[in-house]
Amino acid sequence: MTRRLKIGIIGSGGIAGAHVQAYQVLADVDVVAVADMIPGKAAQFIDFWKLPSAVPFDDYRKLLELELDGVSICTPNVAHYQTTVDALRAGKHVMLEKPMSVTLEEAVEMADTAKQTGFMLNVGFQPRYDPNMTIIQDVVQSGQLGKVYYVETGGGRRRGMPGGTFISKEIAGAGAMADIGCYSLDMALNAMGYPKPLTVSAYSSNYFGTNPLYHNEASRFDVEDFGVAMIRFEDDLVLNFKISWAMHMDTLGPTLFLGTDGGLKVTPAGKGPWSGVFDGSVGAITYFHDVRGHHTESQIPLVDHKINLFNEKVRDFVEAVRDGKPAPIPGEQIVRNQAIIDGIIRSSASKREVTIELR
Ligand SMILES: NC(=O)c1ccc[n+]([C@@H]2O[C@H](COP(=O)([O-])OP(=O)(O)OC[C@H]3O[C@@H](n4cnc5c(N)ncnc54)[C@H](O)[C@@H]3O)[C@@H](O)[C@H]2O)c1
Repeated sequence: MTRRLKIGIIGSGGIAGAHVQAYQVLADVDVVAVADMIPGKAAQFIDFWKLPSAVPFDDYRKLLELELDGVSICTPNVAHYQTTVDALRAGKHVMLEKPMSVTLEEAVEMADTAKQTGFMLNVGFQPRYDPNMTIIQDVVQSGQLGKVYYVETGGGRRRGMPGGTFISKEIAGAGAMADIGCYSLDMALNAMGYPKPLTVSAYSSNYFGTNPLYHNEASRFDVEDFGVAMIRFEDDLVLNFKISWAMHMDTLGPTLFLGTDGGLKVTPAGKGPWSGVFDGSVGAITYFHDVRGHHTESQIPLVDHKINLFNEKVRDFVEAVRDGKPAPIPGEQIVRNQAIIDGIIRSSASKREVTIELR
C-alpha cells in the first residue's frame, strides 16, 4: 500500500480553496495543516473545506515544524519569498502560487535554496497543462518556423481590474504584470525553451486604476494597470510584451511567433471586457508559411478538452513528490520570468533600458 502524503497549506484565502479541491480528488493525499496569519482564518477554512484531520495555525513557522511532504504556498505575492525559503529549509517540497516573487533577488535566492536543500520548488502556472499549449510548444520547437527572431505576447482587457490584495504594491509587488502578464510570458517563453533575457526597455502607467471613475478602490491603487516592454534575449531574439487590465480598446492583439520559415498566431479565447489576454486560453492557432511561393495559412485544429488545468498542476506536483522527480515547473527556470518583470519595473521607473544580470 502506498503511503499517504501529508500536505500543508500556507495562506487560506481565495486560491487556497482551489488547491484543497485539487488535493481532495487525489487518492492517498491528505491536507493535514493550514496556516493563515489572520487569527481564526485557518480554522474557518478547515471547517469550510471539511478537513477533519487538519490542524490550524496562525504562524506558518509552526506548521513547518510538522512532518509534511509538501506545502502549497497561497499567500499574497509579497509573502512568497520568506514562506518558500523557510519551507524549503524545513525540508518541505513547495507548490508555489504565481508570480514567483516580487523581486529578482528574492527569486534567485528561492531557486538557490531549492538547489541547496534538495527540495522541490514548483511554480504554479496551470495554463501549461492545456493540451493546446503543447501544440504551440511543439510547433515552435519543431523547427518548422525556422529561426524565431521575434515574439509578441500579452494582450489587454478592455476592463478587468481586480481589487483587494492585487492592487497594492506593498502586498502584490506589481499589478497587471504579476497578475496576468507572468502567464503570457511563461507560455511564450516556455514554447521557446525559456531563453535568457539580457535587457528590458519598458513603460508602465495606471491611469485607470487610480481614477475613481474606473475603480472603486482607486485611492489605494498604486500598481500598474498597463505595461509595455521590449526584451532582448540571447541568440538574437526580441520579445514585445504588452499587458493591460483596462483600456479604451478591445484587444492589444494576439501572440505572434515570427520565424524565418514560418509564423504562428495564437488568438486568445473568450469574449467581453475581461478577455483579450493570452493568460491561459487559446481561441485559435494559425500557421503562416509559403508553399511553392504561395502565401499559405492553416488553422491548427485545437484540442477540445474539459481538463481541469488547476487540478493537473497540483496532481503533477504530487506525483513528482511521490516519485522523487524534479519540479515540473522549476523555480530555477521561472527566475527568468521574474527577471523580466523586475526589469520592467526598473526600466519604467528609470525611463531607460536596463540590463538583466543573471548567472
Ligand atoms: N493560479 C491562479 O489561478 C491564481 C488565481 C488567483 C490568485 N493566485 C495567486 O495566489 C496568491 C494568493 O492570492 P489570493 O487571491 O488567494 O489572495 P487572498 O488575499 O485571498 O489570500 C491570501 C491569504 O494569505 C494570508 N497570508 C498573508 N501573509 C501570510 C503569511 N505570512 N502567513 C500565512 N498567511 C498569510 C492572508 O491572510 C490571506 O488569507 C497570489 O500570489 C496570487 O497571485 C493564483
